[in-house]
Amino acid sequence: MDKEKILNVLKQVLIDNNNLVDSGSIKNISIDNNNIKLDVSIENPTLQFKNKIRSEIKGVLEKTYDNVSIVVDFMINKTEEKTTSDIQNIIAISSGKGGVGKSTISSNLAIALQKQGFSVGLIDADIYGPSIPLMFDAEGEKPKLVNKNNKSLMAPVISYGVKIMSIGFFSDGSNAIVWRGPMATKALKQMIEQTDWGKLDYLLIDLPPGTSDIHLSLVQTLSLTGAIVVTTPQPVALIDARKAIDMFKMKQINVPVIGLIENMSWCLIDNNKHYIFGRDGGKNLSASEDILLLAEIPLNQSIREAADIGRPAALQETELGDVFVKLSQQVRDSINSRNKDLPKTKKVEITHNRGCN
Ligand SMILES: Nc1ncnc2c1ncn2[C@@H]1O[C@H](COP(=O)(O)OP(=O)(O)OP(=O)(O)O)[C@@H](O)[C@H]1O
Ligand SMILES: [Mg+2]
Repeated sequence: MDKEKILNVLKQVLIDNNNLVDSGSIKNISIDNNNIKLDVSIENPTLQFKNKIRSEIKGVLEKTYDNVSIVVDFMINKTEEKTTSDIQNIIAISSGKGGVGKSTISSNLAIALQKQGFSVGLIDADIYGPSIPLMFDAEGEKPKLVNKNNKSLMAPVISYGVKIMSIGFFSDGSNAIVWRGPMATKALKQMIEQTDWGKLDYLLIDLPPGTSDIHLSLVQTLSLTGAIVVTTPQPVALIDARKAIDMFKMKQINVPVIGLIENMSWCLIDNNKHYIFGRDGGKNLSASEDILLLAEIPLNQSIREAADIGRPAALQETELGDVFVKLSQQVRDSINSRNKDLPKTKKVEITHNRGCN
């Protein structure tokens, strides 16, 4: 058993109109008696794809060698081009109606992107009901102060490789924060601007529900790359999702909505899909507003339980984990085509007094 022969055998495994070897996907081979260990670099990080390639590799090697044990590890190959600024893409996750799953989607999306090797930040902009510390098992954490170029900045809390900042880190979790609009927007602004984010591929912002001053303050502070609107298929949620879309489309805001996510689309009971909140609401809204439907996420007990114990479902190497990997690929594709088509979003000048500062 030698490397040369193994490489020859592996040429039978095809990937993207080429074979594993000629495409340069085999990064490492180690042989120890009858054990072969391979590191394979791939662009498609879904569990389904990994399983397919792993079983094809095993198939061809086991045909050639008797009693061989094969371990295949995958490395995810990043293809996006980088620019020089520190934060490449800032994406707001919004809804209209409360409780439709913004924070759940934001945390799982952040982890799915991080799992693929991107550097990801997540701001919990829900000043009144921060939930990201709980979902990342980071309750009670306190961001430390760091000195950067003679400026005092806060270091984000890092959990599962994601850099997190939340107003929840600055308050006693048991007390509701009873701030008024201007104070809340000031706190949000500070969290965004006075955090040592370092280089990020994606900064996600989990917004509070609605279309309030916080939202205006946010677009005033940041150059958003785009917004994602989350909805359930239920008519009351769709009405509010449309309001959120309209807000981003307003002439003085003009933030591209890079996609819709329908959450709680169905619940699988005894292998049958039950459409508890209605059916195809996201699809219909996507068609009528001409906005891409990025994903339909099932209502699933494990998603809720995983969020509650602070280990989002996207961490799992399961079909459920893959739902969020697929979502993150759709999000990346949509961001990439948005970045090709449109110039960087400018910060919004808000001329009327809405109590923002
Ligand atoms: N796909 C899902 N399957 C099961 N439970 C879900 C799903 N999405 C969200 N949940 C649960 O629904 C509840 C509300 O979700 P979440 O807090 O993410 O909503 P939200 O839109 O951020 O709410 P708010 O408007 O209050 O910020 C949570 O308990 C969460 O665990
Ligand atoms: Mg929330």
